[in-house]
Amino acid sequence: MYLGLDLGTSGLRALLVDGEGLPVASEAEAYDARHPHPGWSEQDPSQWTAALDKALARLKASHGTALSAVKGIGVSGHMHGATLLDADGAVLRPCILWNDTRSAEEAAQLDATTDVRALSGNIVFPGFTAPKLRWVQKHEPHLFEKVAKVLLPAAYLNFHLTGEYFADMSDSAGTSWLDTGKRDWSPALLNAGAMRPDQMPRLVEGCEAGATLRPALADAWGMSSDVIVVGGAGDNAAAACGVGAMSEGQGFVSLGTSGVLLTGRDGYAPLPASAVHTFCHAVPDQWYQMGVILAATDSLNWLSRITGAKPAELSMALGDHINGPETVRFLPYLSGERTPHNDSEIRGAFLNLGVESDRKAMTQAVMEGVAFALRDCADAIGQTGAQLGGLLAIGGGSASRFWLETIATVLNLPLDLPKDGDFGAALGAARLAMVGAGAGSVQDVMTRPAVDRTIEPRTDLTSAYADAYGAFRASYPALKSLQ
Ligand code: XUL
Repeated sequence: MYLGLDLGTSGLRALLVDGEGLPVASEAEAYDARHPHPGWSEQDPSQWTAALDKALARLKASHGTALSAVKGIGVSGHMHGATLLDADGAVLRPCILWNDTRSAEEAAQLDATTDVRALSGNIVFPGFTAPKLRWVQKHEPHLFEKVAKVLLPAAYLNFHLTGEYFADMSDSAGTSWLDTGKRDWSPALLNAGAMRPDQMPRLVEGCEAGATLRPALADAWGMSSDVIVVGGAGDNAAAACGVGAMSEGQGFVSLGTSGVLLTGRDGYAPLPASAVHTFCHAVPDQWYQMGVILAATDSLNWLSRITGAKPAELSMALGDHINGPETVRFLPYLSGERTPHNDSEIRGAFLNLGVESDRKAMTQAVMEGVAFALRDCADAIGQTGAQLGGLLAIGGGSASRFWLETIATVLNLPLDLPKDGDFGAALGAARLAMVGAGAGSVQDVMTRPAVDRTIEPRTDLTSAYADAYGAFRASYPALKSLQ
């Protein structure tokens, strides 16, 4: 048995899988983020460990025998968070999360520093870890002085589980302190960020054992004392492991709160100016690239809130099949945008509204706006030399056939819809534990889920959607010039 822990932004999920990687049982426990000031987003690490205790207590009660057979544990975490510890391993302040924008100024400064993009392979986005520490240095100097270790959320859980400081490459690549090509902390980047090498955790690959479970936890959960905890992964890399998106030509489109277009890469080919994220994968010698849009289902949820109709009701009104782009256009920049604009100031818009524009037209425009923004990501990824293909559609929004057909047609790429099952970040984390504990090679374990059906691009409509995409593409600079 293996245990995958997905430390998410809104809750923790614990998934127990058997030696074949098939789900045996899972438990989830919700928690919130706090927003004490506009743009701030924080969680207390004690929320994570309390959720872990509760989820594991329930797993023990329902599946005690299976839990006692666990050989390895893997953790997936929301990326970029800064958990600050003092010399005794005590938490100094709440963790500053990935969606916290307080350090936008520090991010811009670091991003403009010589060699920072070249070494980290990425733009320093406001949500990344390094600018957060510069913010703490400036605004909370009394705490900054005491920082003995900075841990990402998953690495904090690794520390809680084992008492040792270690982090995996995929998560560490999102700090702006890692030389992403060399898979090592960069002295120059640490220096630019006012950090020291001794404040960083030890680096291991995501599927490599980092340490063994603390005896007190092994006792409490009825596990043996030699359970290994692997490096784990950032949530997107873990999700990629969960659906077998490991190398060139294997990827996914995820329609969650945010939208992600991700592809595995066999080599390191960063292109920071495109605002594509280039991160280490959670297995050795692999990388992945992704475009991130900040409001995917969040855009539909927003429309749902202001129309009073549930998201499912909005999408049902469109039917299952597309029949040409809507005249009304939507720019989904409700929370700013990462790829390709790297613009935290921009906000969304509807264009071309007429007296005849109804709820249905606006729903279609919202779905198309998200599809066009994903096409922006596809074009940006294409500039790096990656071949997009073998795309699985995952995430809550993939329940809408209409939305998937829109995306397949706008990208001009087929989308595979997996059969119902477990293929999230928790499965990816459990798979990393399997590889680390010797259950199989990366190739054996990180397989693709069975495909339920393939959504093909509508070739009769690709040119109409390509024209509409051209108009969408031209809208951003126009909107920007009005700000
Ligand atoms: C990736 C990112 C998010 C977080 C939270 O760069 O910011 O995907 O990992 O899910």
